Amino acid sequence: TRVAVIGGGQNCEHEVSLASAAAATAALDPARYQVMALTIGVDGGWRDERDRPIGLAAAVELLRDCDVALPLVHGPRGEDGTLAALLDLAGVPYAGSGLTAGAVAMDKWVTKLVAEAIGIATAPGVLLTEATAATYAWTHPVVVKPVAAGSSRGVRRVDRPGELPEALEAALALDRRVLVEDVIEGREVDLAVLARPDGTRIVAPALEIVVAGGLFDYASKYDGSAVFRVPAPLAEADRKALEHAALAMYDALGCRGVVRVDFFVTADGPILNEVNTTPGFTGRSQVPRMFAAAGIPYPELLDILIQDALV
Ligand code: DAL
Ligand code: MG
Repeated sequence: TRVAVIGGGQNCEHEVSLASAAAATAALDPARYQVMALTIGVDGGWRDERDRPIGLAAAVELLRDCDVALPLVHGPRGEDGTLAALLDLAGVPYAGSGLTAGAVAMDKWVTKLVAEAIGIATAPGVLLTEATAATYAWTHPVVVKPVAAGSSRGVRRVDRPGELPEALEAALALDRRVLVEDVIEGREVDLAVLARPDGTRIVAPALEIVVAGGLFDYASKYDGSAVFRVPAPLAEADRKALEHAALAMYDALGCRGVVRVDFFVTADGPILNEVNTTPGFTGRSQVPRMFAAAGIPYPELLDILIQDALV
């Protein structure tokens, strides 16, 4: 089977996406899969496997020569449904979620509206834009984040009103819409859902992120300082609520393949943080760790994803 592994991307998670693609390429069984690596540059230009710049039309031709694509581009212009749409238009089967799931999950505001509509709690929050940001009156600690970004880029906690302008500016630099949410006191717990080709789903054991400094920010996401506990020690009621919420979001958004759903577990139960339709796939990322704990090693996880794309 010829697999096009797509990495890189035109956003601030470019490096992470390269690492995810490299890890997947290394883990694909060479006896079964012939890998063609394609990369999207930060400038949006595509590169072939020998790192030569190619036009979009040439990239589509290469993709059409493959049996299936494995898109591992995190963030905007990748995970947000745009890459899925390109593959749909080109008629190339691909692993993972389609346009709608990617677009909705990338938008933290719309995700919140969907979650609340189906009874899944999220942090109380408001949407601001460049036009309305000045009207916001700070009264208590909040987290300011771009509506669509990833890996915590542009995310700041604001504990004092004086810190607000800079936080808004940082978030507005990455997106025209910004989300201001109440700080949730809780444990950071991730769930992962994987669809098998036969339509059944696997929910991996929950993973808890324990960060020395408290905030799971861009640095602690990739410098190795965060400790993952899999399975996360959880009360039975919390575990059940988390699994229910993860599956409910998976279905509400119409996800496919593997998705990581991030929560805070509070004294009042789980609060949804976000849904990632192209979760980190590097060697130290959560999803491979969670499925390893479920008895599904990384190569088998890729296998299930690719086979699901081919049914
Ligand atoms: N956005 C990063 C890659 C993640 O969710 O793992
Ligand atoms: Mg994310």
